[in-house]
Amino acid sequence: MKGVIPAAGQGTRLYPQTHTKPKPMVRLAGKPILGHILDNFVRSPVNDVIVVVGVMQELVAEYVSERYGHVLDLTFVEQSQTEGLGHSVYQARSVVGDDPMCIALGDMLFDSDYADFIEAHRALGSVDGSLGVKQVDTPSSYGIVTLDGDEITNLEEKPDAPDSDLAISGVYFIEDSESLFEAIEYLIENDLRGAGDEYQLTDALQRMLDQGATFGTFDVGKWYDCGQPDTLLTANRVLLERIATTNGGIAINGDSSMIIQPADIGENVTLKRSVVGPYVSIDDGVDVIQSHVSDSIISRNATVKRANLQNSIVGDQARVTGTPNELNVGDSSDVQL
Ligand code: G1P
Repeated sequence: MKGVIPAAGQGTRLYPQTHTKPKPMVRLAGKPILGHILDNFVRSPVNDVIVVVGVMQELVAEYVSERYGHVLDLTFVEQSQTEGLGHSVYQARSVVGDDPMCIALGDMLFDSDYADFIEAHRALGSVDGSLGVKQVDTPSSYGIVTLDGDEITNLEEKPDAPDSDLAISGVYFIEDSESLFEAIEYLIENDLRGAGDEYQLTDALQRMLDQGATFGTFDVGKWYDCGQPDTLLTANRVLLERIATTNGGIAINGDSSMIIQPADIGENVTLKRSVVGPYVSIDDGVDVIQSHVSDSIISRNATVKRANLQNSIVGDQARVTGTPNELNVGDSSDVQL
């Protein structure tokens, strides 16, 4: 089985972070989103991984080759125009060949391992494929699955009037990869664009269903869509919590600063008279001076000075400078700043 990671999208929902780096390279809990996904592949039996790159692809290829080149068998393929998820997966056709594939979206993190998903897929028996799913509150934002018993009977990408609340969650197993590539090719050749005017993977899977393929589902458990700021911060919290199980506690930094775990602090970080944490990821080269930062991601070489931040994402090289309040408050006052 080969792994395919579509990591070529623009990531507009994560602007402004993705103005200067591709979405899979946005960092949380000590490494880029893509690093967490590749770690999961390293732990799984699938070590032959194809990464579909596009926007700012050099940043992705450099990071992935350097960090994972020795533990995974990697291939990069290019999606030169952003024409949708189906089109992105299609770029991997010649490398996947006849092998079955596991498609793992480049912005989705899970509590479970892909190895668990592979087992869940195998437990379904003789299906042509299976999709990880999860019940959601806003089905019209996702690809939606309709089931009859254990079998998928219909798939629709971001439907206006959803038949169910069971969402496609970003991990797919396809036994007959060539049939999927043929289905995507059919969409492209006939210009059958779907939601968002793009060639959708969901539509290609529906075409396979129409042609008699059988697909099952498995529950993905907890999932984190790192493509949006609030869920990125939630994923940061959860991943840091896991790290904290091995290094939890409170550490006092030499320079009158305090780190409240869980927190991940990179290299060459300066903390001065600050309180950092809990749930803070601080990348390399960051300066935090006279500040209080919790529940936040502070990216490479950023500076935070005299600021009180929470639920915040600060990009590379950004400078955030706060102004202290000057008050002369009378007795029994109630002041909220
Ligand atoms: C993609 C898929 C969609 C799936 C979702 C999971 O949508 O097209 O079927 O439900 O990922 O996050 P996107 O998030 O790229 O809009």
